Amino acid sequence: MKSLIIAIDGPSGAGKGTISRTLAESLKYRHIDTGAMYRAVGWKALHDDIALDDEAAIAALAGRSHILVEGGRVSIDGDDVTQSIRTPEIDKAAAAVARLPRVREVLVARQRQMGEQGGVVMEGRDIGTVVFPHADIKIYLDASAEERARRRLNDTAHSGGQAGEAAVAASIQARDRSDTTRTVSPLTRAADAVRIDTTHMPIDHVVETVVRLVRDKITNR
Ligand code: DC
Repeated sequence: MKSLIIAIDGPSGAGKGTISRTLAESLKYRHIDTGAMYRAVGWKALHDDIALDDEAAIAALAGRSHILVEGGRVSIDGDDVTQSIRTPEIDKAAAAVARLPRVREVLVARQRQMGEQGGVVMEGRDIGTVVFPHADIKIYLDASAEERARRRLNDTAHSGGQAGEAAVAASIQARDRSDTTRTVSPLTRAADAVRIDTTHMPIDHVVETVVRLVRDKITNR
């Protein structure tokens, strides 16, 4: 059977990470977290003291950097940044670099290379719309802003847990705004993506739903 390309998109905190990872494990596919690539570039820009709106410099940085995002670890040019990219500071830096068209061009080209052979679950914001508009399966995970803020507060992989609920909700809303209003590849559901609202679903129920949906699609192809 052909190895499929599965695109999982949606806003922060909709459950993309857990769902994509579990789905990939269950299908023995690779899991590629494209948000981690934008985060790694944001981290490196701060590390190298590059202004977050210097598009040419950040695109050049993205182009020469060696970024690895598979197997649960994230590294850029040999620096393991798995934990250091999950902070409020990098939330902002990643959203800032993700607005820059030339940076997106570089990372989208890499993502296409990484996924074109199939056998991949790729998560992000523009996978089903831009990176792989012909993906075999597209899922758009969504949840209310309040529920996504609550999940972020309970996310042990993300530091800054000392911030109150209101601060986290404000940060999620700011990022939603940045992700949905940028001119290049704004976050939007592909017309042919299956939308799942996870607001009132426990995570294992979402996993079950998605795995069933994917298995149905695979057997009915
Ligand atoms: O999924 P995440 O929160 O780790 O993503 C970090 C940032 O990168 C977020 O602001 C959205 C952006 N992003 C993007 O623009 N396109 C993607 N394919 C993935 C993430």
